[in-house]
Amino acid sequence: MRRPLIAGNWKMNLNRSESMGLAQGIVQGNCPGGVEVVLCPTFVYLDAVSGVLDGTSVKLGGQDAYHESNGAFTGAISMVMLADLGCDYVILGHSERRHKMNETNAMINAKLKVALATGITPILCIGELLEEREAGQTQAVVESQIDGSLASLNAEHVAQIVIAYEPVWAIGTGKTATPEQAQDVHDDLRKLLASRYNATSAAAVRILYGGSVKPSNAAELLSQPDIDGALVGGASLQTDSFLEIIAASTAEAAS
Ligand code: 13P
Repeated sequence: MRRPLIAGNWKMNLNRSESMGLAQGIVQGNCPGGVEVVLCPTFVYLDAVSGVLDGTSVKLGGQDAYHESNGAFTGAISMVMLADLGCDYVILGHSERRHKMNETNAMINAKLKVALATGITPILCIGELLEEREAGQTQAVVESQIDGSLASLNAEHVAQIVIAYEPVWAIGTGKTATPEQAQDVHDDLRKLLASRYNATSAAAVRILYGGSVKPSNAAELLSQPDIDGALVGGASLQTDSFLEIIAASTAEAAS
């Protein structure tokens, strides 16, 4: 049984007091126990948000981290530092990092291994561009992202990660994959993991959907058998909309 996970990726948004206020609002929303809730503020406010989440069931995540633990890497943040601030999760390979900051599967693979070694659960993002979907290449693209990002990991490692399928054309555009389109990719991904690793690991991995998830479409997306939660951008920046998405996943978990 996979526990639903709803993660808010705040990206490069909100100031310190807004970040703390939003975290406070989520905590006061009394998130139901059946759902795991993760907030991913920007690096500089992780500590402030960590203080708000302390002693609650809401978890903290980083939006990225470097693959080295310390040293002369100006501007970089390590997984050890994220762990020190109380992060249980880290988003890796987000499409904005792949496409705007030129991150490669090899770089993501290096980060993913360090995250696992540090005891931080990676949320590995994958997803195709619009032109790739239109050219019928969705499956091939996500397959190569999975193979590249998970290179040299074993089935035991893979069972510990979270995958987020985020079609790039659905991110921040208001266009959402239909529940059927998303379910098809999630189902393909699980079959791919079963063939590359084993059935047990494939069944254990939570696969989130991301891309314009909002209160109005969350329940239908989350009702799909292979969609185990959501990675939410814009709609995670407001207490009410994020709580409504969490509530939608609870309804699914209970049904
Ligand atoms: P939106 O929900 O704003 O489309 O962003 C999705 C996303 O990129 C989450 O990581």
